[in-house]
Amino acid sequence: MAEKILLTGGAGYIGSHTYVALVAAGYAVTILDNFQNANRSVIDRLEQLTGAPVSVAEADIRDATTLASLFAEHQFDAVVHFAALKAVSESVERPLDYFDVNISGLINLLRVMDAAGCRNIVFSSSATVYGVPDETPTPETAEFRAMNPYGQTKISGEQILNQLTAADDRWNVGILRYFNPAGAHDSALIGEDPRDIPNNLMPFIAKVAAGELAELQVFGDDYDTPDGTGVRDYIHVDDLAKGHVLSLAALLGDGQSHLVNLGTGEGHSVLEMVAAYRRASNRDVPYRITERRAGDVPVYVARADKAEEILGFKTERTLDEMCASSWKWIAGPHSSEDPGPEDKG
Ligand code: NAD
Ligand code: WQD
Repeated sequence: MAEKILLTGGAGYIGSHTYVALVAAGYAVTILDNFQNANRSVIDRLEQLTGAPVSVAEADIRDATTLASLFAEHQFDAVVHFAALKAVSESVERPLDYFDVNISGLINLLRVMDAAGCRNIVFSSSATVYGVPDETPTPETAEFRAMNPYGQTKISGEQILNQLTAADDRWNVGILRYFNPAGAHDSALIGEDPRDIPNNLMPFIAKVAAGELAELQVFGDDYDTPDGTGVRDYIHVDDLAKGHVLSLAALLGDGQSHLVNLGTGEGHSVLEMVAAYRRASNRDVPYRITERRAGDVPVYVARADKAEEILGFKTERTLDEMCASSWKWIAGPHSSEDPGPEDKG
């Protein structure tokens, strides 16, 4: 029988792509999401993509009663935990909300899992836990450096999970530190769809290419990088989704906990991203160099060998494919329709 997986935050950007990958790998998946940063229409599109009904619970990860009844009903074998708040600047303004959802929500989920005897979890962490790293490409051994409350919640989440596995070896934990997810599913049915002005580079460039925003502000060209602009390790969201399938297989297979970076090991500057998006969209992307953005890191690039060694994870998709799939999604009929109840992040 197919193993049963609870996918928290499964209606969101990375969660929805991971849903498709998990179903393709033969898992029986239930999505739990409160839709505070997702469109309900994502569920219809997942049904279209997979050709099967989606099992979905509209609930908050902080709601222990609902969680416990879901576990009783489905007897999950593992949880892939995406549900979190993720906007860095918002976390500086409203740290308590971030501690509540990202830390209390995690603890609540772990308590319910423990009571239900389900002790396998894949956790969404982030390169942000490295702060400004001493070394690039950055290995998993680099020290924790919180730059803002959001980053602190990811560090705390990892520490909670590590102390839990140390205390009780029945727990199997996969901690995945994502670098910069980008792109969309090739079907153009799901993708990243911020309703507000986007914080992140790729969705911002996409809206400039589409003519919805006038120009990109390039935050600084005086970093110690080849062209002076910030360098990041962009990873196709479908590659990232596959990383979760491999992590889950490792936990449910030999029960080995692991901590890995998920990135390509290659960096691209802001200006390289603009050039790549112009090629993919065949549109102009006007930009202007402005001041550095407060709290920005000059370079984030993953040391990517550990994920390959432990999980057999290797990225397959190129930067041009990230841009092309993003453009197909942004220019397609589904993007920005049927907004959720609140502004999307
Ligand atoms: P997203 O906002 O698109 O997805 C998160 C989902 O969780 C949304 O569908 C939202 O409605 C849901 N959610 C939020 N609070 C909830 C709650 N209290 N109860 C139930 N559901 C709730 O974000 P994403 O980009 O898909 O990120 C997924 C995970 O990956 C997050 O944990 C994020 O911190 C982490 N991450 C993201 C990035 C990135 O750049 N996108 C990078 C590193 C790590
Ligand atoms: C990338 C590069 C900017 C926008 C953030 C979070 C991090 C993670 C991913 C979750 C940088 C430059 C950007 C713009 C620009 N999220 N830029 N103009 O900063 O690597 O990471 O999102 O874990 O925690 O901090 O991503 O896409 O915002 O920026 O010049 O309008 O693009 O300066 O060099 P970042 P980003």
